[in-house]
Amino acid sequence: MMGRGLLGIEDLDRDDIELILETAAHMKEVGERDVKKVPTLRGRTIINLFFESSTRTRTSFEIAGKRLSADVVNFSPSSSSLSKSESIIDTAKTLDAMDPDAVVVRHKVAGVPKRIADELEAPVINAGDGAHEHPTQALLDLMTVVEKKGRADGLTVTIVGDIAHSRVARSNIYAFTKMGAEVRVAGPPTMLPANVESLGVKAFGSLREAIDGADVVMALRIQRERLSGAIMPSVREYHATFGVDRAKLRFAKEDAIVMHPGPVNRGVELSHDLTDHRPSVILDQVRNGVALRMAVLYLLAGRPQPRPTEEEDS
Ligand code: CP
Repeated sequence: MMGRGLLGIEDLDRDDIELILETAAHMKEVGERDVKKVPTLRGRTIINLFFESSTRTRTSFEIAGKRLSADVVNFSPSSSSLSKSESIIDTAKTLDAMDPDAVVVRHKVAGVPKRIADELEAPVINAGDGAHEHPTQALLDLMTVVEKKGRADGLTVTIVGDIAHSRVARSNIYAFTKMGAEVRVAGPPTMLPANVESLGVKAFGSLREAIDGADVVMALRIQRERLSGAIMPSVREYHATFGVDRAKLRFAKEDAIVMHPGPVNRGVELSHDLTDHRPSVILDQVRNGVALRMAVLYLLAGRPQPRPTEEEDS
């Protein structure tokens, strides 16, 4: 998989995931040095092609590329020729003609990174597409769980919130089930896809039941921008029923950790107190995002270049 890009966790097997996590653990050590830079990707070019807003993913891909000494270009759709009606595919092919070594794509429509990958020479990394997948988020979540718990195998991971509209949920379901965890999902009926159990998870309409004995409780952002129609109870009702707070957390394991991919709607998915304090590991997730994305860039853009021939040398 690492030759052609990273479009989703669905495409990976356990060995791929373990390779990425092992590489990320080495990359994390670089971020802990005084000088947080290695020459690994010197001479390589990474293009960040974000058609949807982002703080964590875009910034961490940029920092990751720079820590590996790559040249990182942040493409800005609003000031590009997209505003002159150039299509996304023509834009991507134009950028590909400048010979980048990897292109990172986020788009609000599921399938756009794959569509772009089909046209490009450069490997494409999906940085989140609609409600489809967000593979690097799931990998950094997995990295954080393995750091905190020593493993994923055998753990119980409860994901609560808008499962139907969440690319984070989908990628995490693939990632944690492939690594041997029991995954439970919980949310209002309108936020649970009808066929969710076909992904190998257990679905619950009650957070109290879903959280019982859990090692990891992952709250998802309520994605107001992806909701159409009134499928959500009021915010107050949502928080009372599915918001994670210390009272509900008592039913999880004593050493359970609380995760959230961000950005958090404070007081909705998580109580204010849990957003800022242990056992929440939200900022550990963010920190690991840089190391994890360094690993993905290294594995994709760090491939050996063909050696110049003698003629080219002369
Ligand atoms: N978790 C996540 O994808 O956050 P951003 O939208 O800030 O990148």
